[in-house]
Amino acid sequence: MKNDTITFIDNRSGKKHNFTIKKGSSGPDVVDLTSFFSKTGMFIYDPGFTSTASCSSQITYIDGEKGTLLHRGYKIEDLAEKSDYPEVCYLLLNGELPSKENKERFISILTHHTMLHEQILRFYSGFRRDSHPMAVMVGIVGALSSFYSEKIYDFSTTEGKWVAVSRLLAKLPTMAAMAYKYSLGQPFIYPKNNLSYAENFLHMMFSTPCGEYKPSQASIDALDKLLILHADHEQNASTSTVKIAGSSGANPFACVAAGVASLWGPAHGGANESVIRMLNEIGNEKNIKKYIEKAKNKDDPFRLMGFGHRVYKNYDPRANVLRKYCHNLLKESDNFNLPLFKLANKLEEIALNDSYFIKKKLYPNVDFYSGIILKALGLPESMFTVIFAVARTVGWISQWKEMTEMSQKKISRPRQLYIGNNHREYIDILKRKKQKQMFPGEIK
Ligand code: SDX
Repeated sequence: MKNDTITFIDNRSGKKHNFTIKKGSSGPDVVDLTSFFSKTGMFIYDPGFTSTASCSSQITYIDGEKGTLLHRGYKIEDLAEKSDYPEVCYLLLNGELPSKENKERFISILTHHTMLHEQILRFYSGFRRDSHPMAVMVGIVGALSSFYSEKIYDFSTTEGKWVAVSRLLAKLPTMAAMAYKYSLGQPFIYPKNNLSYAENFLHMMFSTPCGEYKPSQASIDALDKLLILHADHEQNASTSTVKIAGSSGANPFACVAAGVASLWGPAHGGANESVIRMLNEIGNEKNIKKYIEKAKNKDDPFRLMGFGHRVYKNYDPRANVLRKYCHNLLKESDNFNLPLFKLANKLEEIALNDSYFIKKKLYPNVDFYSGIILKALGLPESMFTVIFAVARTVGWISQWKEMTEMSQKKISRPRQLYIGNNHREYIDILKRKKQKQMFPGEIK
């Protein structure tokens, strides 16, 4: 029994406290510190959660040192090569690869929920035409919570959860494509039931009332693989956001809208858009060295976008797979000499041989090549993170569903190390000292 515990000794008082070590099926053990505060009167301090396991889960396993990513035990490389996105959605949600019949039924249910309530279309016109599509997505996904409200659905039941899961998976591509069409001032294109998930999305993005868009098979495959490779990734920032929102029992559509907001940041899902902007800023191979020095300079906020990862201290396996699909797509679309792709390859080669990047274990992550594939698919940079949100919806809602099905459901409520003022008496305004302006300059 002794070896299943860890002893915490407070050297100030000599007090000892034992905590249980829990083992998973793979990966690091955890120390169960749920009673740490009640036993020691102290909090555990871990800003950014670099050493914190927020939950237990059966969905995705990552080994950052080995560059391993498993979904329900299946390697991401195998799923990318042999599966398709709807099947990976089923696997993430249900824990098993579907039988042929179950897969067909699942796809049919999603297909028949791809349309939006006509009133939702009116929400788009409230946005500025030049809004970032992620701003639109935060609003529209959140608005779904008014169409799928607790008045009609009980999201604590199996049926209610299924409604949330199926409607979100089915409608995110439609909403995303409409955000793009709105930004162009083009009419919305409705989904077609005879198209696959990826093909339907490309159809809604690029068809117009004047002409049907027929994507190449390479484009459909590349998008399908992109969706698979972005589907889920353990307890990342946006998934944790969805789950913290969900821990209060909030409407799942509103929780996913919170996930969209978190994913938007350049340190997270917004990186794919930033990678292209960075490559355009670097311009050509002669400038690479200068930018790598900028990335190493602590006084320079510049970072090499698409590099580094909280968990992967080796190659992000998704980046490996994406590079291969990137090659195939560019070869097929005669873009193989796409300067951006050649520049990305050269940047990767130089960065991976630079001692700073080697020491910090900074490798290309999923965002490094996804931007180039999306560009080769003809998607505008502003839509890159939207595609990531479409893909990650299944991860968000699978992790939300798993959390709601767990026995120990507690609201997520972290504490803090307080470093502010201790108690002080109120001072009458006439007796207060002169202070510097809170907002220097004129108040606009
Ligand atoms: C995603 O969590 C997930 O799973 C996310 C994701 C998913 O699928 O959900 O994988 C998707 O978000 C991928 C990451 C996309 N973001 C980027 O490409 C932005 C650039 N990368 C960095 O901002 C950074 O690497 C993070 C945010 C990804 C990770 O940050 P960490 O784990 O908090 O690490 P850190 O910022 O503390 O960096 C450690 C050191 C620092 O130097 P020191 O302070 O130790 O001296 O490495 C340096 C950093 O300055 N560093 C970089 C760098 N990334 C980290 N230096 C230059 N360029 C970089 N890209």
